[in-house]
Amino acid sequence: MRLSVVGCGYLGAVHAAAMASIGHEVVGIDVDERKITALSKGEAPFFEPGLQEILTEGIASGRLSFTTDMSAAQGAKVHFIGVGTPQQAGGYAADLTYVNAAVDGLLPYLSEGDLVAGKSTVPVGTAATLAPRVSETGATLVWNPEFLREGWAVQDTIDPDRLVAGVPFSEGVATAEGERAAQILREVYHPSIAKGTPFIVTDYATAELVKVSANAFLATKISFINAIAEIAEVTGADVTTLADAIGHDARIGRRFLGAGIGFGGGCLPKDIRAFSARAEELGRGESVAFLREIDAINLRRRDRAVDLTSEALGGSVYQKKVTVLGAAFKPHSDDIRDSPALDVAVRLHGLGADVTLTDPAAIENAQRIHPQLTYVHDRDEALQDADAVIVVTEWDEYRHQLDPAHAATLTRGHIVIDGRNCLDASAWRAAGWTYHGMGRP
Ligand code: UDX
Repeated sequence: MRLSVVGCGYLGAVHAAAMASIGHEVVGIDVDERKITALSKGEAPFFEPGLQEILTEGIASGRLSFTTDMSAAQGAKVHFIGVGTPQQAGGYAADLTYVNAAVDGLLPYLSEGDLVAGKSTVPVGTAATLAPRVSETGATLVWNPEFLREGWAVQDTIDPDRLVAGVPFSEGVATAEGERAAQILREVYHPSIAKGTPFIVTDYATAELVKVSANAFLATKISFINAIAEIAEVTGADVTTLADAIGHDARIGRRFLGAGIGFGGGCLPKDIRAFSARAEELGRGESVAFLREIDAINLRRRDRAVDLTSEALGGSVYQKKVTVLGAAFKPHSDDIRDSPALDVAVRLHGLGADVTLTDPAAIENAQRIHPQLTYVHDRDEALQDADAVIVVTEWDEYRHQLDPAHAATLTRGHIVIDGRNCLDASAWRAAGWTYHGMGRP
C-alpha cells in the first residue's frame, strides 16, 4: 500500500522505515531539511538500534523515500501523522501546533477514501476536533497511537504488543466509515496481525486515552517503587529485594519496578503533565491528582542522588572529581530530553564538583546543551583520578563490562554511587569499593 508519514522524528522516521520493511511504499515528509537529507541517504539522524539497516534496505528497494515537499503525500492511501506534541512553554499542556500544521498541510493532497492516521500522543478530545476538517476532503481520520520504546523502536513498530485504532463511532459502535477505516489499517498491519497481535477497534477518545493512561501507569509504577525506596532509605531495607519479592506476584510483575534516579525522556514526564492539564480542563483534575505526586517523587530522586554523592564524599562535592557514567535518559539511546542522568551531572557541577561525564552514545547531544561539563569518550580515561563514580544510565558498558577491580586501579577514591541499582554490589564491595545504591542499605 502507498503510505505517507508526516513528521520524521523518533516516531515518524522509525514508522516510515518499518512500514517499508514490511512491504509498503512509503514517503516520509518533514520540514527539517537536514533530517530529510540524512534520511534520504539512508542515515539515521539519531541512535536507534536496527534503524540504520531498515533505512538502507528501504531506500535500496525503492520503496522508501523522504522529502520536505508535502505534495508527495498525494496518491498515498494512508497518511500517518507522527509529529511531536511537546510540553507548552510556560505550562503543562501539550502543544498541538505541529499536529494542526500537519493536518492542515495534508488537506490539499487528500483524496476521497484516504485515511489520516494520527500516531502522535495527544490530549483526549483532539481527534474529535480534527475529524471534521479531514472529513470535508472525503478522507477519514483515525487515531492509531504508538507505544514504541526508544532503544526498541524498530522491534516495537514491526511487532507491537497491541494495535489500537480509534475510528468514527456512533452510539457505541463503529460507523460504516469507521469499519472501513479499521479494515484499511488491518491491511497496513497485516503481517503483525497475522502473527497474533491484538487489534483493538474503538472510538477516538478511548484510543487517545489508552496511550496516555499506559504512560501514566508506567510512570506510576516507577514512582511507586521510588517512594518505597525513600522508606527503605530510612529503615535499612533493600528496595531491590523488595521489588523482586513483590514482582513475583503476577498481578504486580517485576518490570518497571527499577528504583533509582527515576524516569525521563521525551514521553513519560511530558505525558503525565499533559494528562493532568487536560483533566483540569475537563473539570476532573482531582481524578488524576496523584500524577502530580508521581512527578514530584520522580524529581526528588535526582536530589537524592546528588545528596548521596555529597554525603559519600564527606558532606560536600566541592572541588571533588566526580565521574558520571551516563547521560542518556536510558540505555540504547542518545536521547537526553529530560534526562535524569544529565540533570544529576549538571547539579553536581553546580555544587562545585569537577564533573567528567562519559556515555557510549549521548555525549554530542549532552555537550551541545551543557558545554560546561567535561566530556570524555573513553570510559577508562573518564575514571582516571575520580574521587567518586556515579552510574546514572545503566548501559551494559557500566553494568556488565566494567570490572570493579580494574576501575579501582584508575580512580583516586573508591566510592561508587549506583543511581540505577544496576551494579553487582557485592562484587564492587569485594573489590574495595564503598557502594551506595538508591533505597538499599
Ligand atoms: C515510554 C513508554 O515505555 C513507551 O511505551 C511510550 O511509547 C513512550 O514512552 P521510552 O520513553 O522510550 O518509552 O522509555 P521507557 O523504557 O519507558 O523508560 C522511561 C524512563 O523510565 C527511562 O528514563 C528509564 O530509565 C526509566 N525507568 C524505566 C526507571 O526508572 N525504572 C524502570 O523500572 C523502568
